[in-house]
Amino acid sequence: MPLVNSKEIMKKAYKGGYAIGAFNVNNMEIVQAITEAAGELKSPVILQVSKGARAYANSKYLKHMVEAACENYPDIPIVLHLDHGDSFELCKACIDDGFTSVMIDYSGHPYEENVEVTKKVCDYAHDVKARGRYITVEAELGTLAGVEDEVQVEFGKSSYTDPEQVQDFVNRTGVDSLAIAIGTSHGAYKFKAEQCERNKDGILVPPPLRFDILKEVEERLPGFPIVLHGSSSVPQEYVKIINEHGGKMPDAIGIPEDQLREASKLAVCKINIDSDLRLGMTAAVRKHFDEHPDHFDPRQYLGDGRKYVKDVVKHKILEVLGSENQA
Ligand code: G3H
Ligand code: 13P
Ligand code: ZN
Repeated sequence: MPLVNSKEIMKKAYKGGYAIGAFNVNNMEIVQAITEAAGELKSPVILQVSKGARAYANSKYLKHMVEAACENYPDIPIVLHLDHGDSFELCKACIDDGFTSVMIDYSGHPYEENVEVTKKVCDYAHDVKARGRYITVEAELGTLAGVEDEVQVEFGKSSYTDPEQVQDFVNRTGVDSLAIAIGTSHGAYKFKAEQCERNKDGILVPPPLRFDILKEVEERLPGFPIVLHGSSSVPQEYVKIINEHGGKMPDAIGIPEDQLREASKLAVCKINIDSDLRLGMTAAVRKHFDEHPDHFDPRQYLGDGRKYVKDVVKHKILEVLGSENQA
């Protein structure tokens, strides 16, 4: 089937008590890994392109690779989404390029500016008469901590979503889904050691997600789809492989999967995962080079990377999102 927007699949996810995985794509192997996993498990899936990915791979390459995936897996709904669009112009460019969904992230700006720019993006994206199709829009209230190329918020500068703002924001902007900050964080180092406790085996345990905020948002916006960013779990088995094969990732820590599963049964309909794919790819490539110092054919090590990323995505669909057989 052709690319879809996220309206219907999120509605179904809300009712069904599961979430759709939104995975970041940067190259062909990652597009293939995610869609092979989703295709085999008959799961809807969101492929998202960040500003950094667009600059790295060129948005046309990524768009055509995602369209190729749609041809290969005609039975699953696939969304092509802009992740963390930081301006109206970037959102417009992606819509004009054929993206079916965009995020405008003005969460780091004052509230009224966030309302104004989000509404401007919605007015453009939702103009079916002009575009011939409805492009879904995600926005954000509250700011997540964490660091990735284009998204950088210091730990002290993050803030939880204020549930009192959500109805006003949604009513005034017309946005289709809302990303909220309840304690998730971008990147592979989501918490500092001093924010965590240690369990009896000395392993760091992060502070729990703020389910109280999520539930209050859900009460104020019944039936409205909520998005969680920064939701990688940083699987320690991959961190271990990386560190055993020449990498150096001390104290990498993520969000416990059981809490994400719990959130997906509530109003959370989209869960963003990027860092765990990076860890899978990196673990595979490091291991490959360590075990085969004579290899120099990219198909050999990138093929391993693709396999590891596919395993990560299958695990997420089955154990975290619950979106298998929902295509
Ligand atoms: O939330 C951010 C995404 O993981 C994208 O990261 O800007 O490094 O591509 P990036
Ligand atoms: P992670 O860094 O936790 O994978 O979050 C990705 C994300 O939120 C992309 O928008
Ligand atoms: Zn994000």
